[in-house]
Amino acid sequence: MEKILAGNVALVTGSGRGLGYAIAERLAEQGAQVAVHDISEDAPAEFGEAENLEAVAARIAQHGVKTVSVTGNIADEESVRAMTERTESALGPITILVNCAGGDIAARGGKPQPNDALGIPLEDVRALIDRNLIGTMLVCRAVCPGMIARRGGSVINIASGAAHTGVSNGVVYAVAKAGVVHWSRCLAKELRPHGVRVNVVSPGPTKTARFLVTRTVNPQMMDESEPLERYGTPEEIADAVAFLASDASRFVNGQVLRVDGGSSLYPA
Ligand SMILES: NC(=O)c1ccc[n+]([C@@H]2O[C@H](COP(=O)([O-])OP(=O)(O)OC[C@H]3O[C@@H](n4cnc5c(N)ncnc54)[C@H](O)[C@@H]3O)[C@@H](O)[C@H]2O)c1
Repeated sequence: MEKILAGNVALVTGSGRGLGYAIAERLAEQGAQVAVHDISEDAPAEFGEAENLEAVAARIAQHGVKTVSVTGNIADEESVRAMTERTESALGPITILVNCAGGDIAARGGKPQPNDALGIPLEDVRALIDRNLIGTMLVCRAVCPGMIARRGGSVINIASGAAHTGVSNGVVYAVAKAGVVHWSRCLAKELRPHGVRVNVVSPGPTKTARFLVTRTVNPQMMDESEPLERYGTPEEIADAVAFLASDASRFVNGQVLRVDGGSSLYPA
């Protein structure tokens, strides 16, 4: 039986580890050829998830699809151009773009200190906007013109539950992710006449290695036998992305899918 994403080429940014890795793996399982990407060859090793990006690509290739590994800072236009070209020369035109690289990571690593609206250092404000918003914009700007020319493609941008509600910790990260949400809506409108879809997945707190290392976790929320009142798993986010990548969502455009077990329900 043909896999539902056979014939597709996916670029998943930030797929050396964490959510991006789970997404890359799910798309490969469903038959897409996948370019794995990270800021550096050794970023996957930072929290012990893999030896390096090459090893990640080899794991993805076990699903019987072609892969390539590409590195580059998504906030640097020249690096983005180079990684896009390398992906397309190895695998062919990109039909699925997942912008997953990002996070509440300070300019020099770790979390910004303090991480509120008035105290966060300006260098961290700039780093967060670059890493989450400008980076997503630049990758879209590099990949979408080809999708327009071919009259098709699916872009999935990863935001966060923090984009949809006021927060007092991780404020600039939340602002950047809210920017990703609105960027995606505007881009969906611009690309609609060209048959290219743009949607957002907003994960709630999800158990990636970095998540577990960089915060105090609530042990009750770790229990996976609990159906909804718990942290999410990377695979649950990957399932939502795979739906938005596939033909099953062919008429879904400009939407935000919050994958958080309903932890952020609000009226309106
Ligand atoms: N884990 C969660 O609870 C959670 C919740 C909501 C949203 N998210 C979002 O999901 C995405 C993945 O998060 P994660 O938990 O897997 O974290 P992670 O740190 O494991 O993954 C982020 C990846 O992005 C890469 N990256 C960061 N800045 C980059 C840059 N400038 N250029 C290129 N690559 C860069 C990192 O090296 C890493 O591979 C992020 O965008 C994050 O904001 C995560």
